[in-house]
Amino acid sequence: MEPLLSVKSLSKAYKVKKGFLRKEALWALREVSLEVFPLEILGVVGESGSGKSTLGKVILRLEAPSEGEVYFKGRNVFKLGREYTRHVSVVFQDPRASLNPRMTVREILEEPLLVHGIKDRKGKIEEVMELVSLPVEFLERKPDELSGGQRQRVAIGRAIILNPELIVADEPTASLDVAIQEQVLNLLLKLKGSGYSFIFITHDIRVIEKIGDRIAVIYGGTLMELGSKEEILREPMNPYTKFLLKSVPVKHPKHRKKEELQEFEYNIPSRGCPFYPRCPDKLEECSTTLRRKNLNGRFIACNLY
Ligand SMILES: Nc1ncnc2c1ncn2[C@@H]1O[C@H](COP(=O)(O)OP(=O)(O)OP(=O)(O)O)[C@@H](O)[C@H]1O
Ligand SMILES: [Mg+2]
Repeated sequence: MEPLLSVKSLSKAYKVKKGFLRKEALWALREVSLEVFPLEILGVVGESGSGKSTLGKVILRLEAPSEGEVYFKGRNVFKLGREYTRHVSVVFQDPRASLNPRMTVREILEEPLLVHGIKDRKGKIEEVMELVSLPVEFLERKPDELSGGQRQRVAIGRAIILNPELIVADEPTASLDVAIQEQVLNLLLKLKGSGYSFIFITHDIRVIEKIGDRIAVIYGGTLMELGSKEEILREPMNPYTKFLLKSVPVKHPKHRKKEELQEFEYNIPSRGCPFYPRCPDKLEECSTTLRRKNLNGRFIACNLY
C-alpha cells in the first residue's frame, strides 16, 4: 500500500540561548523517517521535550525543517499550495486556546469552508455536528459556553470539516478529565472507521494502547522504535521503550516545573544515542554512534540489535 505521508530523514534545529550572547543549535528532530498509511492511527509517544510537537508542526508546515522532506501522496508538501491544508488538518491539546472565544461554533466551523470557497456550508456544518455528536443548538454558542469535552468536539469538527485525509492530533485528550478523554478517544476511533487517518501524539503510552495501530517511540528528537502496537507494547526492543512502559504516567509537561524540564533537556547528548546517559544496557559505542535498522518490518534505533 502506498503511504499517505512519508517523512524522510527529517531534522529540525532551534537556536537557543546558552549563556550570555551565546546561541546553540538544539536538535528537536534528528533524521526521523516514518510513514503513515491510509486508515491507520500512528501513535507518536515520548516524554516531554522529545520532539513530538515539532514533528507534528513540520508535517503541518507550521515549522520549516532544517533537513529532510515530507511527502504527501508522493508530493513534497513544501512545494504544495494552500490545497495541502484541505488534506491535512490539526487538533491541538487545548481547545480553549485553539478556538477563537469571540466566534460562535457555527462561525468556527464555517471559517475553513469560507477560506476554501466551499458551497453548501450549512449542510456541511450540520453534518459535522452530527458526526462529533453535538446538538445543532450548540451552533449559536461560544466556546466558553461549552464543557471541555464539547469544546474539543468542536475542534475535531473543525479539523474534519474539509474532509481531510490525515489529521495530526497533538495531545488532544491531555487537557480533559479521564472520563471525557475516553469519549474523545472513542470519537476519534469512530472517525477512523469513516476513513480518516491520524497521527496521534501523546506523552502517555497507555492512551495509545486504546487507539493506535502502530506506535512510533521518540526520544531526544530521535525515532527510537516503530512497530505495530502489539509489538511495541508486548515485546519492546529499545531500552527506552521498556523504560516508558515501566514508568508511571507522568503529569503533562505543562503541569511540571520548569527546572525539571530544563534538567531533562540538557541531559541529552549531541551525538550517539540520546538515551545513552540513562540507558541500563548501554554499550561503549552508544556515546558516539547509533545504529538504525529495519528488523522484520519493524524499525529500531539501538546498538544492541
Ligand atoms: N520555538 C522553539 N524554540 C526553541 N526551542 C524549541 C522551540 N520549540 C520547541 N523547542 C525545543 O525542542 C525540543 C522539542 O520540543 P517539542 O515541543 O517538540 O517536544 P514535545 O515532545 O512536544 O514535548 P511536550 O510533551 O512537552 O509537548 C524541546 O527541547 C523544546 O524545548
Ligand atoms: Mg508537545
